[in-house]
Amino acid sequence: MEIQHSSSPKVAIGLSFCALAMLYSVMLVGVYISSSNQGLSCTEWPLCPNGFGLPSEKHFFEHYHRVMVVITAGFIFATAAYSFKKFKPARKTAIIAAIVVSVQIIFGMLVVTTRLEPLLVASHLSTGILLFAMTLMTFLASYKLRFQ
Ligand code: HEM
Repeated sequence: MEIQHSSSPKVAIGLSFCALAMLYSVMLVGVYISSSNQGLSCTEWPLCPNGFGLPSEKHFFEHYHRVMVVITAGFIFATAAYSFKKFKPARKTAIIAAIVVSVQIIFGMLVVTTRLEPLLVASHLSTGILLFAMTLMTFLASYKLRFQ
């Protein structure tokens, strides 16, 4: 059966791949922060003490975890908007990913403001994995239609 969609999957593939690559990097940096006990290096929200300026060594990974999240969320929202308007096959998972990334950012804020409450740290990690799964499914749904 031929699947109908109003535009080429190339844009959806590009956007979801960028989202996936950024997400992988955000998670890598997040686990590094956690395993090197730097989770309380920035106790402020939403910015580290250096604000928009270059971070000191102490705030380096926390600062870039947050900066990369902004870019990642941008790609996830752009993928959802594009799929919603023009690319039906990836619509469901792309919209779920957009909702999950919003929840994940709230968990990130709570991890910081509660000073690493264990239940929130666990929720932050598991929601990150759910987000990765939704973004990967979005990418695969677009990629498998690349020759159509
Ligand atoms: C796309 C959004 C995000 C993703 C995918 C993400 C992912 C992760 C992951 C996988 C970890 C490692 C967790 C662990 O090993 O237990 C982590 C740690 C952390 N994240 Fe995020 N994060 C996101 C957004 C944020 C935001 C917005 C903040 C807020 C500032 C934040 C603050 C933290 C902190 C403080 C840690 C270290 C927790 C600890 O020391 O145990 N994250 N993040």
